[in-house]
Amino acid sequence: MSEETKKKPANISRRDFIRDAGIVVGGTAITSTFLMSACGKEVEVTKTITDTVTKYICPVCSQEFTSLDALKTHYDGTHDSQPAGDSPFITLTVNGMVENINVTRTETLRDCLREKFGLYSIKDMCSGYGACGSCSVIVNGRPLLSCMILACECDGAVIETAEGVAKSNPALVDAYVLHQCMQCGYCTPGFIVTAKALLDKKPNAGEEDIREILAGNICRCGTYPAHIRAIKDVVD
Ligand code: FES
Ligand code: FES
Repeated sequence: MSEETKKKPANISRRDFIRDAGIVVGGTAITSTFLMSACGKEVEVTKTITDTVTKYICPVCSQEFTSLDALKTHYDGTHDSQPAGDSPFITLTVNGMVENINVTRTETLRDCLREKFGLYSIKDMCSGYGACGSCSVIVNGRPLLSCMILACECDGAVIETAEGVAKSNPALVDAYVLHQCMQCGYCTPGFIVTAKALLDKKPNAGEEDIREILAGNICRCGTYPAHIRAIKDVVD
């Protein structure tokens, strides 16, 4: 048996899948794999052709069919109307404002907050690999990397960004200015929200606490000592 695997871009439409699934590659015994978007997830569809049997396997429930039409009918009737669509509707409380928005299944919280809320304090220094901390936001009281979270997982979350910290803890921002914690400033919002989350939880945080909480924030300009001085200033 020969095999051929055909990869499609992640955003392949269902129509593209149906069209491609109809292609028969030469040979008498062939298995080919297709990718399609179903319920917002990328899934594989397997079509197996043998000398005597052609099977069409549902990408969602693995049920087998002997014709593409039968698979299409099954998919339309069973899976296509499931509530998990491509644009879930979620509610976020961001810097005190409650918003109802549509997001895509693959949209990160970082992209959502920047593009839908215009909160450009949220940065990306590591191309979304979760390695720099410049995209940090406070989610339900915890400092988290917004590039590593899907927006659709945050339904009902209370979120604070550096824009919010400017209002909720101006003393911290003033201390950052006083101690010149920024050089280029690109990393600074990520540090500030992380520090704010610490102070919310532990108003009398010591130097060890500060060093520990800031361990995941990277500054290419090397401003690390200034952050500690600024946060200690707010604590004292
Ligand atoms: S962009 Fe670097 S940790 Fe999120
Ligand atoms: S101030 Fe430039 S990266 Fe931190």
